[in-house]
Amino acid sequence: MSRTKRLLIICGSVLTVLSLLVGGAFLWLWTSAEVHTLGEEPFDNALAIPPLAESRVDKDGTRVFDLRMQAGQKEFREGRKTRTWGFNGDYLGPTLRAERGEKVRVRVRNDLNEPSTVHWHGMHLPAKADGGPHQMVAAGATWAPQWTIDQPAASLWYHPHPHGATEKHVQRGLAGMFILDDDASERLALPKRYGIDDLPLIVQDVKFDGADFDHGRGMMQEAGFLGERTMVNGTLSPYREINDERVRLRLLNASTARTYNFGFSDDRTFDLIGTDGGLLERPSSLKRIQLSPGERAETVVTMRPGERTVLRSFPQDNYGDAWQERFNGGDDSFDVLQLRAAERLRPSPELPAELGELELPDGSEAVRGRHFDLKRSGINGRAMAMDRVDETVTRGTTETWTVRNTNGMPHNFHVHDVQFRVLEVNGKTPPVELRGPKDTVFVPNGTTMKLAMRFEGPADPDTPYMYHCHLLYHEDQGMMGQFVVVEKGQQAGRPGGHQH
Ligand code: C2O
Ligand code: CU
Ligand code: CU
Repeated sequence: MSRTKRLLIICGSVLTVLSLLVGGAFLWLWTSAEVHTLGEEPFDNALAIPPLAESRVDKDGTRVFDLRMQAGQKEFREGRKTRTWGFNGDYLGPTLRAERGEKVRVRVRNDLNEPSTVHWHGMHLPAKADGGPHQMVAAGATWAPQWTIDQPAASLWYHPHPHGATEKHVQRGLAGMFILDDDASERLALPKRYGIDDLPLIVQDVKFDGADFDHGRGMMQEAGFLGERTMVNGTLSPYREINDERVRLRLLNASTARTYNFGFSDDRTFDLIGTDGGLLERPSSLKRIQLSPGERAETVVTMRPGERTVLRSFPQDNYGDAWQERFNGGDDSFDVLQLRAAERLRPSPELPAELGELELPDGSEAVRGRHFDLKRSGINGRAMAMDRVDETVTRGTTETWTVRNTNGMPHNFHVHDVQFRVLEVNGKTPPVELRGPKDTVFVPNGTTMKLAMRFEGPADPDTPYMYHCHLLYHEDQGMMGQFVVVEKGQQAGRPGGHQH
């Protein structure tokens, strides 16, 4: 053999081995990126139900709640403690509940050793009470916002919103539900006994590492942290005994990056009765409901005596290309919660055919349109700046906001203070699950959505509300903007550039 021939053979073999190694590594990354827990959950823990928060009514009729942010430890796994944060307890928080027309005040005490905030997600309220990054609560301090509940019955929630650190604060356990009632919701024949046939389901994905959560983001995970199993209301592998023919499930996706595609293991239908900001016009029978981070759905499931079924999250079919599906959670599936019906079930009334009218603008009165281009690097080409107001809206007007994602990865879009109507998805009428009041909406790559919303105020030119991607890693990285509500003709002020 000539020298060159030998050299060629050596080079060739080295190349082959190298490409096999690289290919093998990629194959390993690819296959190990898919996470699923189907058939693997023992369902041996009774589902915890967050307690209803205690409150008292002041002389002037204000309902007052107390929330304390604190560090703690919780035994999610038998015999093993995990360091956590929670409101009034080790993990998550109590369910706040108030009625339309009531004045509420929440005294938020921060007993953590770092500053945080508490934001009332989905609530219509004055900007100063919103709990966004401009309302920081220093360690040891108390913040007591108050407002009047002035919106329909809904399943809202609360969580911290410190700029740049929201993901971490929510992951450690700071989240809770805020349920609103009104005359119509009290009159309707819907399951409504909290903790009996009306259950909050706060769904999160987790990963453990010794005495702490593991919040590491995988190399290819552009969406943010993705966990390897789910828990509901802080319960791992949960089951729930059902004693009523119909049970209302108030689903909240409180995960920081993961989108779920909920349905049941036996593919049964369920009724969707409400979305983020309240009830639909009428129940709608579905097999799947997709919820991206921050979104809620109120559903009613009908059970037969003695049967069991599992609330499951199925793979997504609109998540993007194979790469996105695989590395950002689109291919994943989870067994979330087992429902066990008792041998004898209390009969429940039929669901009402009509649930009421929507209090949402239809866009016909819109005085102006705005466009939002979603990119991970920022919205409309700009990363969030605390001292810059991006949009100024006039109190008492309706606008249409067109949101577009051509960024090659999934995002969602959340607007503070308002509930909006989805007018169009890629120019077409939205599917039923997007026809109710929404404050957060999943915007997969290649999607343009037109939203209609009305800004009722009060005006406050100096205090902005936020709009942002609710994949909290993206939000923290600057995928957020600020808007103020002003009186007609008024200019936006200059918000303080708080840092923490
Ligand atoms: Cu759920 Cu800006 O928040
Ligand atoms: Cu919000
Ligand atoms: Cu995003």
